[in-house]
Amino acid sequence: MNLSDLNKVALAMVTPGKGILAADESSGTIKKRFDAIKVESTEDSRRDYREMLFRSSEAMSRYISAVILYDETIWQNARDGTPLIKLIEQAGAIVGIKVDEGTQPLSACPGELVTVGLDKLAERLKKYFERGARFAKWRAVIDIGPEIPSATSIHVNAHALARYAALCQAAQIVPIVEPEVLMDGDHDIDRCLEVTERVLNHTFQELRLQRVALEGMVLKPNMIVPGKKSGKQVSVDEVAEKTVKLLKRCVPAAVPGIAFLSGGQSDEEATAHLDAMNRIGGLPWPLTFSYGRALQAAPQKTWSGKPENVAAGQRAFTHRARMNALASKGEWMADLEKKAA
Ligand code: 13P
Repeated sequence: MNLSDLNKVALAMVTPGKGILAADESSGTIKKRFDAIKVESTEDSRRDYREMLFRSSEAMSRYISAVILYDETIWQNARDGTPLIKLIEQAGAIVGIKVDEGTQPLSACPGELVTVGLDKLAERLKKYFERGARFAKWRAVIDIGPEIPSATSIHVNAHALARYAALCQAAQIVPIVEPEVLMDGDHDIDRCLEVTERVLNHTFQELRLQRVALEGMVLKPNMIVPGKKSGKQVSVDEVAEKTVKLLKRCVPAAVPGIAFLSGGQSDEEATAHLDAMNRIGGLPWPLTFSYGRALQAAPQKTWSGKPENVAAGQRAFTHRARMNALASKGEWMADLEKKAA
């Protein structure tokens, strides 16, 4: 492993003023997104949609540092035969790949999941590196309920994340370590904080045990927010303060950067929260975005599968990318959203 090169890639992924586009929806997830806009999910429609994003030259060259792809996309060509990854590289962004193979029910732990995909991962990483991937992503999913998460699910998911991260670094690929505590439940913000603290502490303990070099990874956590079904509203400042306080407690300063998932927050909430955290300032790591839904919901809706909407879809994507890029520097203002609308 060349740690200095891994560190350079990790730092480039979290450059202030830029962030990561998570375009790595599995075939099942992208079908759900396309169902919502009444577009049939086929190899061609998925290609057309992602080509629209990757050809958004202003967004890609100015606001996006890196793109996470799903396996299908990394091998796919644009309509004119150019490999999609070339479009990303030409814009100056780094190509990454989701390498987990989704979740399975965790035996003896009702209602809990474990992320799978470690078998043959070393061989797969080698092929992805040859194709041009310089980082990877693995997402663990922790749900909150009255009796969950169990210590078992936190442990097995943290263990798998660390195992994945160690294999990535051995293959000269920067691991994005993503332990996602879901915001689906009816819990309050303090319960989210308590569970996320356990999950992050356990994840870093496993990373150390498995000798993962912290300088050569990026953390992708959830923000500290109340569950969607709690009916509770909290201020942007409370989310920002609680998230920053917790990260300072749990994340070593050696980690090159933190790139949040949006997790089901509205587009503007995800931007406002990131901005408020960066306004707090004085943090040991850059904080940026690695959003899926909060970057893509608007362009998806605008596009709706119609070639004549491509330019408008690209404008919608560029707007969200720019808003989040400003938030990564604590320079976003709500007025900018209104002006664009
Ligand atoms: P969301 O921002 O939609 O949560 O997606 C980010 C991601 O990559 C989840 O794994």
